Amino acid sequence: MHLSEHPLISASAIQRRVDELGAEIAAHYGDEPITLIVVLKGGLPFAADLLRAIPVSDVCVEYIRARSYAGTASTGEVLITMQPEESLEGRHAIVVEDILDTGRTASAIQARILALGPLSCAVCALLDKPARREVPIEADFTGFVIENYFVVGYGLDLDERFRGLPAVFVLEEAEEPEPAFLMDDEEPPAAPESEAPFPWPEEEVAGEETPGAISPADPGSGQTGGTPSPGTASGPPPPHRARARRRRRPRPPFR
Ligand code: IMP
Ligand code: MG
Repeated sequence: MHLSEHPLISASAIQRRVDELGAEIAAHYGDEPITLIVVLKGGLPFAADLLRAIPVSDVCVEYIRARSYAGTASTGEVLITMQPEESLEGRHAIVVEDILDTGRTASAIQARILALGPLSCAVCALLDKPARREVPIEADFTGFVIENYFVVGYGLDLDERFRGLPAVFVLEEAEEPEPAFLMDDEEPPAAPESEAPFPWPEEEVAGEETPGAISPADPGSGQTGGTPSPGTASGPPPPHRARARRRRRPRPPFR
């Protein structure tokens, strides 16, 4: 697997969208008390930025932890291993997820949170991969709709790696190995050692998003059971749709 050379979603595009989501959430809930339910571990960077983008004083933070992935494959089984400690009574809960994939995690978490008795429980996902959905759930607030890529960065990981990347990158399948032409008695050459554990992209991480990588999407209805209907009236602005840009230059070494 290789990290895409260019981000699918740049850090500045993420920040701009997170600011918009914060404003959408504030406009929807007004002065009502909100508790952000941060889904560990992947939702942490998103939730930290979102918290600061909601211009409302009564916003609390709680944590929930769920696991469903091993490598790039969903196990289909959701384990909830930590849940909120403070009461959610009289408060609107917003589950803050990195990505909606099959929908199993968000669905299981929303059910668990609703059982704790909040006024409502919405789902806010930075990314949405609707093509992968197996459980009928839509986020009430969505950052970007993406195609069926495995992505890393800004909290998203591959076996705990890449979470600290400030932008979102695509993990691409490995290229075909270079053909090796060897004499009968010749040993294959040793693989070259890469200098870094993996190449930390230095360009385009914080710059403007890659031209053509993000375009407006159709407005989603975004309604799920027990949620406070943020899509009513004129509805929230549509999530953005992102797609990967083709790689144009040779990749740096990766291991
Ligand atoms: P779901 O239960 O299948 O919707 O999966 C949700 C969880 O799977 C997310 O919170 C992520 O932790 C993980 N996940 C799904 N897609 C990706 C991806 O493309 N990259 C990294 N993690 C992913
Ligand atoms: Mg996650």
